Amino acid sequence: MSLPVFFAPMEGVTDAVYRRVHHSHFTGIAQYYIPFISPTQNLVLTSRERANVEPQHNQGLRVVPQVLTKNADHFIWAAQLLYDMGYEEVNLNTGCPSGTVTAKGKGAGMLLDVPGLECFLESIFSRTPVRISVKTRIGYASEEEFSRLIDVFNHFPLSSLIIHPRTRQEFYTGTPHISAYAEACAHAKAPLVYNGNLFTADACREAETSFPKTTALMLGRGMLANPALAQTYAGGAPLSKETLRAFHDDLMQSYHEAYPKNVVLGRMREVAKNIACCFENADKPLKAARKASSLAHYEDAISRLFEDYTLSANPCFRAAD
Ligand SMILES: Cc1cc2nc3c(=O)[nH]c(=O)nc-3n(C[C@H](O)[C@H](O)[C@H](O)COP(=O)(O)O)c2cc1C
Repeated sequence: MSLPVFFAPMEGVTDAVYRRVHHSHFTGIAQYYIPFISPTQNLVLTSRERANVEPQHNQGLRVVPQVLTKNADHFIWAAQLLYDMGYEEVNLNTGCPSGTVTAKGKGAGMLLDVPGLECFLESIFSRTPVRISVKTRIGYASEEEFSRLIDVFNHFPLSSLIIHPRTRQEFYTGTPHISAYAEACAHAKAPLVYNGNLFTADACREAETSFPKTTALMLGRGMLANPALAQTYAGGAPLSKETLRAFHDDLMQSYHEAYPKNVVLGRMREVAKNIACCFENADKPLKAARKASSLAHYEDAISRLFEDYTLSANPCFRAAD
């Protein structure tokens, strides 16, 4: 039996449109995590944040919203709002490595001030009606910070602890620190979710057998590259050219209904970049799609890609050189 798979939140990519379209073409995802909302002093959601969390935009999907803040009052405000919308779980982001986020002590910046993190958790766990899960890295600068973080997380009833076993300083480079994840398996009390560099069904199966305490796997870039990855891991059909084309076209159509043309073009150029690994020796049309200056040019390149090139035998995310 395969483990449940969660689709990782990816700001700017896995918005409500993407999630709905993905769910209507592929199986295998138990929960979609919504990219973070980041409350500010005036306590209103931006229109983009609202569009992402509105229940009517997420119908038929199991979704978990995420909050990025170091201010306990802001977290509680957001958690209450989300609870009133019907959400039973809210995920706290202590992993975002972006410089603009960490400079404000948010995301992975919270890992720099462990007593502050503990106070924050104390405050939110005593005052929030929802279940709280945490998505974290293993430290700010060094893997050695992780034992202390596990101790802190162990003081609270986290509904799950999602671990991306890299430090903030590593962003997404190098390989995840498997030994740190093993340490969590040995000492963390919360149900554990593994996240990081699972790009093939075999890698998912290996994670499942290496870490029997893992309750679910979270997949990010691997799903963008091969949207059938979770489906294949769960024993379903591998990616085919027909399903990829149908997904791609539906995504473009749905973006057209939701966004102005320039946004659609930007989004679709990213999609072309993400699915590049699905084709053999298709650099020419892929480059044309990525660089297209209009939707007409984009569609032309994509038609050539699907008509003239073969689907790769093992479509799988590859980090840029
Ligand atoms: C473009 C992009 C946006 C991301 N946005 C978020 C986010 O909003 N919240 C979050 O917790 N992680 C975010 N992440 C991190 C992913 O959720 C995930 O932890 C990371 O990609 C590692 O998993 P992977 O190796 O399966 O891709 C983002 C990653 C990328 C590449």
